[in-house]
Amino acid sequence: MRKIGVLTSGGDSPGMNAAVMSVARSAALYGIPLIGIKRGYNGLLRKRENIKDDLQELNLETVLDIADTPGTYLRTARCDEFREEKYRAIAVNTLKEMEIDGLVVIGGDGSFNGARCLCEMGIPCVGIPGTIDNDLGYTEMTLGYDTAVNVCVNAVRAIRATSRSHDRPHIVEVMGRHCGDIALTTAVSTGSEIVIAPEVPWKVEDIAVKLNRQLDKDNPRATIIIAEGAYEKMAPFDLYGFLTANGKMCYEGEPMSANRLASVLKRMCGGAEVRSTVIGYTQRGAEPTARDSAFAFEAGNLAVRLLRDGISNQVIGMQMGRVMYMPIMEALQYRNIFNRTLYDLVNSL
Ligand code: F6P
Repeated sequence: MRKIGVLTSGGDSPGMNAAVMSVARSAALYGIPLIGIKRGYNGLLRKRENIKDDLQELNLETVLDIADTPGTYLRTARCDEFREEKYRAIAVNTLKEMEIDGLVVIGGDGSFNGARCLCEMGIPCVGIPGTIDNDLGYTEMTLGYDTAVNVCVNAVRAIRATSRSHDRPHIVEVMGRHCGDIALTTAVSTGSEIVIAPEVPWKVEDIAVKLNRQLDKDNPRATIIIAEGAYEKMAPFDLYGFLTANGKMCYEGEPMSANRLASVLKRMCGGAEVRSTVIGYTQRGAEPTARDSAFAFEAGNLAVRLLRDGISNQVIGMQMGRVMYMPIMEALQYRNIFNRTLYDLVNSL
């Protein structure tokens, strides 16, 4: 390896900086110069006038300070052009011109697909799973997931304290794209009474039945955790018709949201003062937990060792609690398994 490159791509996730720092420390240890590529694959397309805005030499001094910081020092972005071969060819050219003989890609499944394509074009790549969503079936954890869950758990605990004080139900929306893992783990870790996830189709009316059951059992402060992707799995519901018929203003065609679900449930549940909170970017922008940082540190080192030893087209993950690697193609074929038993248990009250 004359040089290696590292990039972060897709949604940022806590621990990305720790992984970059580990890649830098490992590269320094093995005597391989390291280039940081800015804004995911975009940096390889050389969109900026000043080359330093696309590619930057990373030395230890630059990265030692970032290990425990949230966000990503290298910046991140999604890069739709990268689906097209002509743009990937530009990236390959950039890598060759810069004498970068291997690439560490930190991101989710879309980023891994980009890495797989680069491998097919002769650029050795190794992927590190960086996404809060935990939606990669081959690995028990993705970088940032543990942090995101802990942010949600802390938020829900605080919300439940104030909900309890006022005897009010509360809806909490968490992230995760099409994956309900953040929602489910948050629900089980906080004793929440209801969870709604994209893996299981649901009806607003059924949630109202569950909430009414809690109210009847003298629990006026139930917490409903909903994953952001779950609205897509909601049975058709005439939000406009229902709200306007019940004296609440609503725009025609307005989509369901945590706020609107609270309004609907209030009207379906005897006027209970249902409130809502969307946790949002605080999940992604948090300082990484020790678990995420430690995984990042080990994964960053393994990525550099693999490239150094001529092993590429691999992604790193965690299986049976141990850091491992497997071919990208194989990893992308794993389906994420949602824990339906826990989901049913949370919703069984
Ligand atoms: O995939 C990571 C993620 O944070 C998802 O949880 C979320 O749906 C998505 O990215 C949001 O992306 P953006 O911040 O670009 O809207």
